[in-house]
Amino acid sequence: MRILVTGASGNLGSAVLPRLARDGYDVRPMSRHGRPGWVAADLATGAGLAEAVRGVDAIVHLASSPSKTRETDVEGTRRLVAAAREAGVRHIVFISIIGIDRVPFRYYKLKLAAEAAIRAGGVPFTLLRAAQFPTLVDTLLGALSKAGPVLIDPNMLVQPVAVEDVADRIADLVAAPPTGGIVEFGGPRTERLEALTREWLRARGSKRPVWSIRVPGQTGRALRAGALTTSELPTGTQMWQDYLKAKY
Ligand SMILES: NC(=O)c1ccc[n+]([C@@H]2O[C@H](COP(=O)([O-])OP(=O)(O)OC[C@H]3O[C@@H](n4cnc5c(N)ncnc54)[C@H](OP(=O)(O)O)[C@@H]3O)[C@@H](O)[C@H]2O)c1
Repeated sequence: MRILVTGASGNLGSAVLPRLARDGYDVRPMSRHGRPGWVAADLATGAGLAEAVRGVDAIVHLASSPSKTRETDVEGTRRLVAAAREAGVRHIVFISIIGIDRVPFRYYKLKLAAEAAIRAGGVPFTLLRAAQFPTLVDTLLGALSKAGPVLIDPNMLVQPVAVEDVADRIADLVAAPPTGGIVEFGGPRTERLEALTREWLRARGSKRPVWSIRVPGQTGRALRAGALTTSELPTGTQMWQDYLKAKY
């Protein structure tokens, strides 16, 4: 079985490639930039997509652009699915995010539109909505402490999930028949952001104070009510602490 992996050079893609290779698949990584053994294609323009999907049984679609999201994630996904349908691809596993229908961030609205493109595309699919990766939480906490103290909404609920765990889940899903629906996948524990932040500070040996802010409106209410988390099983196994121990 040949699997095309978009976003193969990314944070998640780098965990997915060895996982799928270990399962014995013929893996075809895709990037905008040519590399030996990889296929070069650009979702934002469509260049190279027809060749990328040729002879492929399934696609694991991970590519995303925070700056050119509409062109890459929404229109690019539409282009990818059209090419996949043409090539007779039998399954697309698309990585999405828990809570995109409950938290009104711009990126999330576009991610929902990308999901809609998958649903409408005519290729059997599975949508995997994952919780936040530890690297993202780490980067966000860094950004929120630029001014000195860490400014967080302490009651926001988060459930970080390791990319290696997500890679395992993707390997399970691509081996199974398309669900035609949404699978949610979070880390082993849901916690208040304050608890994660204090562990983050401890791991870095930092004495920065934590200042509470309250994210206003519908966004704040959703984040505090656990919109980014799931009770669905199974969950990942790696803890936020495991990530901190390895990183700091
Ligand atoms: N970060 C999180 O906490 C989180 C949580 C849940 C779900 N997700 C989802 O997981 C996915 C992967 O996240 P990540 O953190 O691994 O992303 P990442 O490290 O930023 O990687 C993004 C990838 O997208 C590719 N890409 C960007 N623009 C492209 C274009 N025009 N055409 C083709 N490829 C393009 C890049 O490949 P090249 O530069 O090599 O072309 C890169 O490999 C995303 O869809 C994201 O929404 C993320």
